[in-house]
Amino acid sequence: MKLAVNIDHIATLREARGENEPDPVIGAGICELSGAEGIVCHLREDRRHINDRDLKLIREVVKTKLDLEMAATDEMLKIAIETLPEIVTLVPEKRQELTTEGGLNVASDKSRFENIIKELHSKDILVSLFIDPDPRNVDLAFEVNADIIEIHTGKYANMRTEKDLISELSKIVITSRMASEQGLIVTAGHGLNYSNVLPIVNITEIREISIGHAIISRAVFTGLHKAVEDMVRLLDRNK
Ligand code: PXP
Repeated sequence: MKLAVNIDHIATLREARGENEPDPVIGAGICELSGAEGIVCHLREDRRHINDRDLKLIREVVKTKLDLEMAATDEMLKIAIETLPEIVTLVPEKRQELTTEGGLNVASDKSRFENIIKELHSKDILVSLFIDPDPRNVDLAFEVNADIIEIHTGKYANMRTEKDLISELSKIVITSRMASEQGLIVTAGHGLNYSNVLPIVNITEIREISIGHAIISRAVFTGLHKAVEDMVRLLDRNK
């Protein structure tokens, strides 16, 4: 199980002050030195955290792999083609949301997804679709030629009763199996933290998880190096 660290919230902290610290570019390097096997950042239309300068420099410093999260828009496609991340993760984006609220609705604009994926493939960029755990989404991801599905674990993370938790977890298991059988790479993310990650880690089809908020929050108290290392150790212990 690999860990990719989402560094958006280092930039959120910087933007809270409108100055130039803390710098997510330095954060990317520290995450990699601490055992992260990928760096994720989300360039939003409103540039509320990561901005164009960050993305350019993050691309230069990242040695593992860069996963650019973005909306399926023409503006973002152009930036992705200029930046050449190893992976693009397509996500839905709403201006008012605090964070990504759910998975993509691929069915609503299938040909748009197909075309964007084709353009990204022409530059050797792998494409991941952020989807809710539902087998119908796997079929759609396969049909539009995605390489990876990232299963949205936000609902799982918010479940409060054991019954709801097990029900959501079984949807994640079924979706992972189906995707893996269809030859898609399976990853997961959103809302995962030090106490809820292990059941997800135990799903053998899931190859990588993407964590942002929990790691950056812990880093405020322990330092980023230790926060990443603690998560890597937790994942390794469960191999
Ligand atoms: N995966 C995707 C597609 C996301 O949009 C986010 C949030 O930016 C994450 C993973 C990480 O979520 P969290 O910050 O809750 O760990």
